[in-house]
Amino acid sequence: MTTLECLFCDRRRPFEIYNPFCPACGAPMLFAPSRGKKSVRSSATTAAERFADFLPLKKYDRTLSLGVGGTPLLRIGNVIDQFGLPEVYAKNETANPTASFKDRGTVVAVQKAIELGIKKIGTISTGNMAGSTAAYAAKVGFSCLVFVKEDTPQDKIVAAAIYGASIIRVKGDYGGLFRKSFEIGRRRGIAFMNSVDPFRIEGYKVTSYEIFEQLGPAAFRAKAPLMVFVPVSAAGHLIGLIRGFRDLHDLGLIPRLPVLVGVQASGCAPISRAFRRGSDRVERFPNPHTIAHAISNPTPPGGELALRLLRESGGSMMDVGETEIRRAHALMASREGIFCDPASATPLAAVLKLKRRRHLPQGARVVLIVTGSGLKAMEAVVDPAPLDIRPADLETLEEVL
Ligand SMILES: Cc1ncc(COP(=O)(O)O)c(C=O)c1O
Ligand SMILES: [Zn+2]
Repeated sequence: MTTLECLFCDRRRPFEIYNPFCPACGAPMLFAPSRGKKSVRSSATTAAERFADFLPLKKYDRTLSLGVGGTPLLRIGNVIDQFGLPEVYAKNETANPTASFKDRGTVVAVQKAIELGIKKIGTISTGNMAGSTAAYAAKVGFSCLVFVKEDTPQDKIVAAAIYGASIIRVKGDYGGLFRKSFEIGRRRGIAFMNSVDPFRIEGYKVTSYEIFEQLGPAAFRAKAPLMVFVPVSAAGHLIGLIRGFRDLHDLGLIPRLPVLVGVQASGCAPISRAFRRGSDRVERFPNPHTIAHAISNPTPPGGELALRLLRESGGSMMDVGETEIRRAHALMASREGIFCDPASATPLAAVLKLKRRRHLPQGARVVLIVTGSGLKAMEAVVDPAPLDIRPADLETLEEVL
């Protein structure tokens, strides 16, 4: 039997497809792993298979993956030199099959759906989750219903619709839509795999395992901290990463947890604001406005859980302004050859902010999770970026050069 647990109420219950929330407090419930012995299969091909004992599946089936994971961890040497930073690496999640980290959660959630005999799935999305869920639905032959925010860029909508999913652009409050999707799911027999789906969150743990394998155990043993910066919206990804590092700690593979830093845009920073105030409660963020659309969520469903896990593990939250985001976004592309979306540039913006304020610990090692591709957020580069684009014809070419 698959069991879920609420970390706030210390309560367990069997998994219900259409309602993964705690009946007592309403918090998202997490997968409750069995207490049996778990080990790492070091000879397996992918990190998901090596750490399969830590995933909520009877068996991880690689043939149902579209090639998720195994993304590069790149040292961003040019930016390091320009700003005098310590060792900084970018975990380039844009290299996933549908160009974002969401595939890591989707591959696990979809395999769980197959185990449970489900054939209709759905999601609500600011864009990336739509594409990921729709692609996996196509792969395994499920139907897929996607609700997107009214202002979702057309590129992202097309990048989901192409897989055959039904897309509905919904006007109105995103938090309300999140709750309503589960009601609709129950009535119509559609399993909604949203941002804080318990199985999706387990899939995100594999990124932590890969960072451990790519950096090596010494990075976790060094005196100066290892810091992992990640953009945060609903907070499912952040929660998954913390759980992944905890698995490594429980196994005795790392002596202490890295410092996780969740990053939001100052124009929509409900979790960061609560963290700064020392509050356990995440209040709705009024009038959200940011270029980082993918993380613009005024009512993040995993916010309170994230605050709790961050505080327990010595992590923190930050937010960064629009100019800082735009600058980091341009730097990632023009100095490092990584074209990410603005949300994915917030970790670099946060590191540069800490450096400016002299808050970056001496000798720290830093990992930035670059969550999604810039090709799905072209509207962010149309105007303000200093692009060197000039017209010419065959006659004037030399002159223009
Ligand atoms: C590019 C990108 N980064 C980060 C996030 C935030 O992930 P989460 O909602 O799990 O916090 C999203 C979510 O849509 C995203 O698309
Ligand atoms: Zn509860």
